[in-house]
Amino acid sequence: MSLETIIRPYGRKDQEIVRHICCETALVGNPIDPVFNDREIFADLIVKYYLQKEPENAFVVESESGVVGYLIGSTHSNSDFGIVKFGLHAVSKILVKAISGKYKNSPQNAEFIKRIFRGGLSPKHPKNAAHLHINILPDFRNQGFGTEMLKRFYAQAQDAGLNCVYEMVFAHPGKTEKYFIEAGFSIFDKRPSDFFGDHLPGPVSTLCVERQLPYELALATLS
Ligand SMILES: CC(C)(COP(=O)(O)OP(=O)(O)OC[C@H]1O[C@@H](n2cnc3c(N)ncnc32)[C@H](O)[C@@H]1OP(=O)(O)O)[C@@H](O)C(=O)NCCC(=O)NCCS
Repeated sequence: MSLETIIRPYGRKDQEIVRHICCETALVGNPIDPVFNDREIFADLIVKYYLQKEPENAFVVESESGVVGYLIGSTHSNSDFGIVKFGLHAVSKILVKAISGKYKNSPQNAEFIKRIFRGGLSPKHPKNAAHLHINILPDFRNQGFGTEMLKRFYAQAQDAGLNCVYEMVFAHPGKTEKYFIEAGFSIFDKRPSDFFGDHLPGPVSTLCVERQLPYELALATLS
């Protein structure tokens, strides 16, 4: 890990850059625009709940050039309700814009909206568990920053009395279910996914992957 780059707790001043990184990485590590190009609403959909309601569970990676990655997460028992509420608000904003013709030059947005409404079920997730989303800009991947943020979040989850953490991830031909199992996760549930349409050549599944805490114990079971 380079000396100039640090992991630190999220602060309100990081809100815009976290929302930006979300949109830069949401298509399995790449920019989301070919799928849906209203970045404001997309960031609302994915990160707003976490930044507003659980900022204490968020971390950022900060390099000399600024924030380059984040982890957002939840340790609250009622987060499902909050996430759905924020999600519905974002979806209603999308609908208003679509109906008023704001997306007429972005045909991919209409397709995305159709897929949201057609939407399959999300995978089930474990009860009494923390969960997280993590994304890092390409130039800063594979240098240990993700692992460091995960360790910090796992410690926070344990402090909150939780012994399980899950993530919703996409499995696709470039990053298969096997990848997540080899990375130390168990598959809790999975569903076919059409979230990215043709922009991510299939088959694509949404996986709920889980890991028991403490992390060291989970790692030991791999060897
Ligand atoms: C996934 C990501 C956050 C990992 O961060 P990173 O700083 O590159 O990761 P590190 O250098 O710490 O090491 C890679 C480790 O992350 C693990 N990893 C990969 N994807 C992961 C995920 N979604 N959650 C937790 N760990 C993950 C790998 O198993 C690997 O562990 P290993 O070195 O023990 O094999 C980062 O590469 C990234 O943003 N990728 C693109 C977007 C993405 O896939 N986000 C995940 C949500 S679907």
